[in-house]
Amino acid sequence: MSTFVLYLHFLLNLFILAAANTPPYTPTDLILLNCGTSSIATTLDGRNWMDDDLNSLSRNNLANISLAATATEQHPSVPQVPYLTARIIRSQFFYSFPVSPGKKFLRLYFYPASYTGGFNKTESFFTVTANNYTLLSNFSAFLAVSAEKPPVAYLVKEFIVNIVQDNYFLNVIFLPSSNSYAFVNGIEVVSTPDNLYMGAHDRNNNPLKFVNNLNSFFEEFDENKTAFETLYRLNVGGNDVSVTDDTGMFREWSRDDNFLSGGDEGNPLRNDTMIVEYTSQTPNYTAPAIVYTTARAMGMYSDKFNLTWIFSVDSGYLYLLRLHFCEMMPYLINSPNQRVFTIFINNRTAEQVADVILWTGGSEIPIFRDFVVFVPNPTGGRPAKQDLFLALHPAKEANPVYLDAILNGIEIFKLNSSDGSLAGTNHELVLDPTSPAPNPGSNKKKSGGRWGILFAVIGGVVGGVAVVLILLGFLIFRRRRGMKDRDYNSRIERPGMNDVVWRLKFALQLQEAAENDEGGGRLPFSSLFITHETTTEDDTNDEFSESSAAAEAAF
Ligand SMILES: *[C@@H]1O[C@H](CO)[C@@H](O)[C@H](O)[C@H]1NC(C)=O
Ligand SMILES: *[C@@H]1O[C@H](CO)[C@@H](O)[C@H](O)[C@H]1NC(C)=O
Ligand SMILES: *[C@@H]1O[C@H](CO)[C@@H](O)[C@H](O)[C@H]1NC(C)=O
Ligand SMILES: *[C@@H]1O[C@H](CO)[C@@H](O)[C@H](O)[C@H]1NC(C)=O
Ligand SMILES: *[C@@H]1O[C@H](CO)[C@@H](O)[C@H](O)[C@H]1NC(C)=O
Ligand SMILES: *[C@@H]1O[C@H](CO)[C@@H](O)[C@H](O)[C@H]1NC(C)=O
Ligand SMILES: *[C@@H]1O[C@H](CO)[C@@H](O)[C@H](O)[C@H]1NC(C)=O
Ligand SMILES: *[C@@H]1O[C@H](CO)[C@@H](O)[C@H](O)[C@H]1NC(C)=O
Ligand SMILES: *[C@@H]1O[C@H](CO)[C@@H](O)[C@H](O)[C@H]1NC(C)=O
Ligand SMILES: *[C@@H]1O[C@H](CO)[C@@H](O)[C@H](O)[C@H]1NC(C)=O
Repeated sequence: MSTFVLYLHFLLNLFILAAANTPPYTPTDLILLNCGTSSIATTLDGRNWMDDDLNSLSRNNLANISLAATATEQHPSVPQVPYLTARIIRSQFFYSFPVSPGKKFLRLYFYPASYTGGFNKTESFFTVTANNYTLLSNFSAFLAVSAEKPPVAYLVKEFIVNIVQDNYFLNVIFLPSSNSYAFVNGIEVVSTPDNLYMGAHDRNNNPLKFVNNLNSFFEEFDENKTAFETLYRLNVGGNDVSVTDDTGMFREWSRDDNFLSGGDEGNPLRNDTMIVEYTSQTPNYTAPAIVYTTARAMGMYSDKFNLTWIFSVDSGYLYLLRLHFCEMMPYLINSPNQRVFTIFINNRTAEQVADVILWTGGSEIPIFRDFVVFVPNPTGGRPAKQDLFLALHPAKEANPVYLDAILNGIEIFKLNSSDGSLAGTNHELVLDPTSPAPNPGSNKKKSGGRWGILFAVIGGVVGGVAVVLILLGFLIFRRRRGMKDRDYNSRIERPGMNDVVWRLKFALQLQEAAENDEGGGRLPFSSLFITHETTTEDDTNDEFSESSAAAEAAF
């Protein structure tokens, strides 16, 4: 029954949201899950979060695997959705999200608090994998938030995983460490343009430089096979940018103040009247305009210091640094060799002569440069947190008109190791984590959310039964090129929802079989079935209404 209610809610929201502004990018997959709840919720920013209710199938042994819980404390900075409720996981448990092929953001939301049922935040350690990538290992959200400076109450872990052709699921598996439990407050899956971060490099226009080997090109990894973790995304010289002010991918951009190092922090720049001229090399979804209309430059005494940022990273991994640039004072800087600077990464020269106007051909035109750097383990070999340095200094040897440097944005990603892992070491416990500062960007303004998700299948694995394999058997995707859904609002090109045909009857049979298998303890899984109306002319329609009817009848 609850599933049917969801369906109605969803349709309602579709109509409301369709009228909102269209950002440059519209994700084909969008899933927002508010874990540990049984009803849909809307955040202040207008985004709808689905529940992951498992109670509709109240199995005896489910509580030993997973249960819904509510935080018994609430820091004032913590938004209720999705942080106040959690799914507590006591043995291996996974969410299986049906997605289209391509690169996806996976965001995991954690509020390390004590939860109903006597779960102590200091005792939670767990591993998370997604499609064979180890995202977190023996992870403690409590230690992670305590290590933030200033300390924060909650955190979001963002990853990018490529879903290869013929692989229709993003399987997110939680496994508690021994004598421990896992938890998660929210899960978000959002598609990205395929070559936003990977696969868009070429030597002439968009080189991927390997900093450890000066001025060489980094072509060693298959970008399609590499998962990323976003560590930092900064709007340099500007303010926090909320997820709904991103270009449609709900990325959060933060201020850079906390990462600046050294006595002189340069000058923030901004130009509110400038129109950012995106290009095919830097399409309008790359970063929101506000990133390019604010920047940090060096100002006076630029000769005497380095404009330096320091980031804490795990040793033993490769990192991708994306630096965003845009000149924004056309009366001052409008031709090459005016503002020319050197970029140092980890004390090595990453770019000897950076001249934004030379790269872009003019002011107000944005561009980014990508660098890969390897951060080795410290001598002694044990992995540890290390500082990653980014520094800018005027390139005096080029005899530029101004001795200055500029930077508009920074994104830093960790790349998976050769064995597919992104997991780092836990932070040491920082004492007195009692008064966390408000998380940045929690003051979201109300604006258009997005629709998306078709359904989420939620499974627990008991006794090593691999539900995934069975689920894979009955999900059939149909790729229908050139076929679009009917548009409720003609300005919006909607994602092709008909691509997914959920063989629901089969799923229900499977579920019945599991239900009848009493005492065996097999397959506690339920399915949420959510879709929007698909009243198109094509022939999937019949199948679809059949499925919907089945869903209605079944729950
Ligand atoms: C983004 O760029 C695309 C392609 O150039 C264009 O069709 C679209 O209208 C732009 N969107 C916005 C919001 O500027
Ligand atoms: C759940 O765990 C408890 C304690 O470990 C055990 O006594 C109980 O039998 C388990 N229940 C089921 C249904 O497995
Ligand atoms: C949680 O565990 C820590 C360390 O064992 C302990 O100091 C603290 O009192 C516990 N908190 C609660 C609410 O039980
Ligand atoms: C995970 O690895 C196994 C064994 O190597 C492979 O069969 C499976 O297809 C992989 N799954 C995904 C989602 O890549
Ligand atoms: C998990 O991390 C904690 C704290 O860093 C540590 O005490 C514990 O030994 C680790 N467990 C495993 C299995 O690595
Ligand atoms: C990576 O994936 C994209 C999109 O599916 C594809 O066009 C490209 O050829 C792939 N690259 C490699 C090296 O497989
Ligand atoms: C901002 O940009 C506009 C348009 O490029 C330009 O005319 C103006 O002078 C700039 N203002 C400042 C304060 O740099
Ligand atoms: C870079 O230089 C700074 C200061 O000179 C030093 O503290 C740091 O250890 C150096 N980093 C690396 C990776 O060499
Ligand atoms: C700036 O950083 C580079 C690389 O770490 C270093 O060689 C140089 O001495 C620094 N310059 C100043 C003025 O600190
Ligand atoms: C990431 O892991 C995959 C296998 O899981 C591997 O093929 C790929 O090379 C790894 N990426 C890097 C940068 O090592």
